[in-house]
Amino acid sequence: MCYNGSAMSEPSLTYLSRGVAHTERLGAALGARLQRGDILCLIGDLGAGKTAFARGVAAGWRSTTAVTSPTFVLIHEHQRAEDAMRLHHIDAYRLARLEDAAMLGLEDIFAGDNAVIVEWADRIAPLLPSDRLWIEFAFAQDDEQARLLTFSAHGERSANLLSALREALSG
Ligand SMILES: Nc1ncnc2c1ncn2[C@@H]1O[C@H](COP(=O)(O)OP(=O)(O)OP(=O)(O)O)[C@@H](O)[C@H]1O
Ligand SMILES: [Mg+2]
Repeated sequence: MCYNGSAMSEPSLTYLSRGVAHTERLGAALGARLQRGDILCLIGDLGAGKTAFARGVAAGWRSTTAVTSPTFVLIHEHQRAEDAMRLHHIDAYRLARLEDAAMLGLEDIFAGDNAVIVEWADRIAPLLPSDRLWIEFAFAQDDEQARLLTFSAHGERSANLLSALREALSG
């Protein structure tokens, strides 16, 4: 793990995941700390582990909604028992044009005060709120079960979320 938390640069953290369950645990640690308005932007190639991570986030957030890959529905809305907060899971892979995103009401989702996970967030970059946590998934060399997850906070809200995650995982 590395942490370059100087005031001069965006805080960022890199974790090595040793397998899909590990990626889900990292997601769950983050999901347990999600606040209203938090935006998680997941980027990385096909099969890099974005949905696995999102599954963990939903579990850690204590979603009571069945977790399915949103690849075919584009937007999946999670609920939980304890409050009226929602966790939206968007997959932007199939969004060919930004106008499609507007049609799906993505701008309204971002303008709302719920939490949002966006797979392939780079495809709708112009629509994303300025304060967001980028999470980049990369394949590791020589180990099919390993992935490198790099978290980069853009903005104060995301920096707070990232430091809560760092504390949780360093304990
Ligand atoms: N360390 C790991 N973390 C996550 N997934 C892993 C890991 N090691 C192996 N895998 C496998 O890689 C695949 C990841 O699939 P997943 O659907 O999460 O990827 P994705 O990034 O969402 O892809 P897509 O862009 O197609 O939506 C799964 O088959 C999973 O079992
Ligand atoms: Mg996916």
